[in-house]
Amino acid sequence: MRTLPRILTRHGSLGTELSMFEQKIKDKSALVAIVGLGYVGLPLAVAFAEAGIRVLGFDVQQKRADLVNRGESYIGDVDSERLLALRSKGLVEATTDQNRLREADAICICVPTPLTKTKDPDLSYVTHEAEEILPRLKPGQVIILESTTYPGTTRQVVQPILERSGLKGGTDFYLAFSPERVDPGSKKHSVKNTPKLVGGIDAQSTRLAVLLYQQVADKVVPVSSPEVAEMTKVFENVFRSVNIALVNELAQLCQNMGVSVWEVIDAAATKPFGYMPFYPGPGVGGHCIPLDPYYLANKAREFDFHTRFIELAAEINERMPYYVVSRIMEALNANGKSLKGASVLVLGVAYKRNVADARESPSMKLVELLLEKGADLKYNDPRIPVIRVGGHQLHSADITEKLLSEVECCVIAADHSSYDYERIAARSRLVFDTRGATKEMKRRNIVRLGE
Ligand SMILES: NC(=O)c1ccc[n+]([C@@H]2O[C@H](COP(=O)([O-])OP(=O)(O)OC[C@H]3O[C@@H](n4cnc5c(N)ncnc54)[C@H](O)[C@@H]3O)[C@@H](O)[C@H]2O)c1
Repeated sequence: MRTLPRILTRHGSLGTELSMFEQKIKDKSALVAIVGLGYVGLPLAVAFAEAGIRVLGFDVQQKRADLVNRGESYIGDVDSERLLALRSKGLVEATTDQNRLREADAICICVPTPLTKTKDPDLSYVTHEAEEILPRLKPGQVIILESTTYPGTTRQVVQPILERSGLKGGTDFYLAFSPERVDPGSKKHSVKNTPKLVGGIDAQSTRLAVLLYQQVADKVVPVSSPEVAEMTKVFENVFRSVNIALVNELAQLCQNMGVSVWEVIDAAATKPFGYMPFYPGPGVGGHCIPLDPYYLANKAREFDFHTRFIELAAEINERMPYYVVSRIMEALNANGKSLKGASVLVLGVAYKRNVADARESPSMKLVELLLEKGADLKYNDPRIPVIRVGGHQLHSADITEKLLSEVECCVIAADHSSYDYERIAARSRLVFDTRGATKEMKRRNIVRLGE
């Protein structure tokens, strides 16, 4: 066991410790390390810096650290001007040198939590980072895991690694889970106005983590444990996955019954209580909804429990690209065309509107399936210039009058607000709309999912 400075010994240290951290936060002399400068980490780093707190960002990618240091943002939700302003004030610095973690008063871990090929949780980024912090852990540091994961990770996976230092969680260092709830691409919701959940391994850890996040979020909600915070985050994503699956199923039924699912959703949304609209589409994508439910489903098995809603929702959502392709084939057939050899333009390969993120995107699956069926495929996405699918490399095509008039079918896969849907519908022979972007239009050349 390491010898601790006198003020941090287990007896009588807490008051001093709390006031030290509080003082540093208050006089803005605290240094916050953000580990993993991606979709979650970079906006968080900017939020702390804009609150006047110095930030040291870490990434394993040298390129990302260099870009941050040049004030150049690579994440849609962060403008380069904002980053540049913070760089010039000396409030943000990025590095790949994990040794500098020693300088930090608080460390927020925002590394990926993907799935393995067999859809099991892959916690290797989290454990790797905990191992990196281990030799650099400093008495009094506040460590917060932000990466989405199954209940138990903070206490059962991260804490034991850190405690190999000889320092004890809740006494010598503080540990909490605080899930990121960022909504990429949203102008309405930000780190500031999205309530932040915090669950520490003990009351002091919670208190310090709450104090930290109060600097960047208008509302911080303490919960009784990291397990509650971890479960809440996964539950939020399961909730979305299940409701999207429900409306995707309804869309298929509506088509069979000749009722417009879009009109039904809008009508249901007039009810002022007990209903919240979810929308059908070609499937689910991004780093959260297709992955996080599996973290819980997998963990549940340890308790002889089968999360049937999660499995069913995943099954329905994962079938959607196949369903959309079958509907496109029908629509082409009705025009006397077969999909094989037909020229098809896919609009939007991002996983949802107005983002530049194609991770797990259902549009990419659509592209893959359309190519497999022999379509002559082109795509456009204003923010994703190149894609690689099944050995093919494709470049985003400009939506020219010529292109629109030449293609047999134009598929709206992500409904970016920059698209001129009136023009697209007016110039195309056939539009297949998976997002309801054209729901107000009455044109014979438009076929919509769920109608
Ligand atoms: N993207 C979202 O919308 C979103 C929303 C809420 C929660 N989350 C969760 O937040 C976590 C991060 O997601 P993201 O979308 O920001 O991922 P990301 O891939 O955009 O960013 C992760 C970053 O971490 C870096 N990294 C990996 N290992 C590292 C290490 N050991 N040290 C330093 N840097 C390292 C990567 O190079 C990358 O830049 C995940 O658990 C995710 O589920 C994501």
